[in-house]
Amino acid sequence: MQAQQLIEFFQLARMPRVPVENYYDVLAQMVCDRAANWATFGVGWNRTFQEITRVRSRHTHNNKLYAFDWWEGLPEDWRPGYPRGFFRLPKERVARWYAHDPSVVFVDGLFGDSLSPARIAEMGRLALIHIDCDLYESARLVLSRLELAPGTILIFDEFWSPAGEWDWHLHEARAFYEVCVERNLRIWPLARRDVDTGPLSEQAAFLIQ
Ligand SMILES: C[S@@+](CC[C@H](N)C(=O)[O-])C[C@H]1O[C@@H](n2cnc3c(N)ncnc32)[C@H](O)[C@@H]1O
Repeated sequence: MQAQQLIEFFQLARMPRVPVENYYDVLAQMVCDRAANWATFGVGWNRTFQEITRVRSRHTHNNKLYAFDWWEGLPEDWRPGYPRGFFRLPKERVARWYAHDPSVVFVDGLFGDSLSPARIAEMGRLALIHIDCDLYESARLVLSRLELAPGTILIFDEFWSPAGEWDWHLHEARAFYEVCVERNLRIWPLARRDVDTGPLSEQAAFLIQ
């Protein structure tokens, strides 16, 4: 699958652009079921994770955020500059900021082990899924196991590069495309950040219809 085909499939060129600083708030406001749980895959350095926890507290209630990571960094080499092990961090460096909040549930381990049928059943129908695990294999595994029900919002952190700065079509976007085709999912492009280059241009969010 070529980059241009994915741009067309996901309607990336017509995706609404949101001011950079409002992106996560705008998406959290779109959540339909405010009491349903959220899940994030790739906690890493607590950067986007902070944003996700902040907007969840602001816009939803009585739910949980399941935060999946094995804390050893990328299990394989990713794009140039991001070798295996990049993003490795002792869990405590992140978890200590959320120790007061029992609604943030850390789920440790490789996704292949931690995203078990029992865990999926416990989480129930998810309102929002945040994919920030970068690699095709990791994203594919997660997306293949989760239900992806109508009404769920999916936010990808490294979905694409509008300026073509790296081989984005081989990673998160490819994994989502394959699952969309396999399951005949109908998706709606929700939002991207209003910027054309660099890391902040790489995010994209979709609604499962
Ligand atoms: C880009 S970092 C996440 C950044 C993070 N969202 C933040 O706010 O800083 C990617 C993370 O995904 C995790 N990861 C990638 N593939 C994984 C897998 N198969 N199982 C568990 N963790 C994985 C890595 O350990 C790494 O911490």
